[in-house]
Amino acid sequence: MTRTIVALDFSSKEEVHSFLQQFNEPIYVKIGMELTYACGLDIIREVKASGHKIFLDLKLHDIPNTVRGGMKNLAGLGVDIINCHCAGGIEMMKAAKEGILEGTPAGQTPAKLIGVTVLTSVSQEAMNTELGIPGTVKDTVVRYAQNAKAAGLDGVVCSVHEAEAIHEACGSDFLTVTPGIRLAGNTSDDQKRIATPEYAREQGCDMIVVGRSITKAKDPVSAYREIEETISHGRV
Ligand code: C5P
Repeated sequence: MTRTIVALDFSSKEEVHSFLQQFNEPIYVKIGMELTYACGLDIIREVKASGHKIFLDLKLHDIPNTVRGGMKNLAGLGVDIINCHCAGGIEMMKAAKEGILEGTPAGQTPAKLIGVTVLTSVSQEAMNTELGIPGTVKDTVVRYAQNAKAAGLDGVVCSVHEAEAIHEACGSDFLTVTPGIRLAGNTSDDQKRIATPEYAREQGCDMIVVGRSITKAKDPVSAYREIEETISHGRV
C-alpha cells in the first residue's frame, strides 16, 4: 500500500490532468476545498475513474444534522477517506459517520472517516492566545483523537509530532494521517508543526500528506518516489 497522499491543491482540471499524467501508476491523492470549489464534484469522479485513490478533505464542521446530510450526499462518490473537524464534538462526529453509512451504495465499502485535530498551521502560541485553548497542542490533539475514537471514527489528521502519543492513547490501529511534511531545505510556507518524511516514519505515522514539496518540485515524480521510498519502510 502506498503511504504518501499527494495534495492536489490546484484550481483547474487542466492542472490536475497535467500533474497526474506524469505518473504511470495510480497514486493516492487528496482533493480539498480549493479544487472542489473550482471544479465541482465532477473532478472527484474523474480522478476516481482514472484509478487513483482519493482522500476527500472537505473538513466538514457544522451542527450534527447538517453534517450527517452532507456526508450522506458525499458518500455516493465512492472516495476512500473523508474527514470532518473534531472541534465539532462527539455528537457531530457520530452524525458524520452515520451519514457515510447511510449514503454508501449497497455493496460498496464505506469511506474511512478521520477527524481533523488541530491544524498543522496552528502553533502552540496561537492555540493558547487566539483560540483560547490552554495547555499543550499535544494534549488537545490527543483529547480530540480520543473523542474521535469514541465517536467511531477510523483515525485523525494530526502533525507528525503527535502521532506517537495518539497511537499510545487510541491504539496502533487508529490511523494517523499527517500533513505538514517538508523535505530538508524546503520552506515551511504557512505550516507551523512541520517534519520530514524520515521523522514521520520514525514516529509511526500511518500515512503522510504532501502538497507543495511534490507539486512545486522541479521533478514532482522523483520527489514523490523519494518520499514514498522513505515512508514505505516504516512500521506498516
Ligand atoms: O503544501 P502542503 O504540503 O503544506 O499541503 C498540506 C495539505 O494538507 C493542504 O492541502 C492542507 O489543506 C492539508 N491539511 C493540513 N493540515 C491539516 C489538515 C489538512 O495542512 N491539519
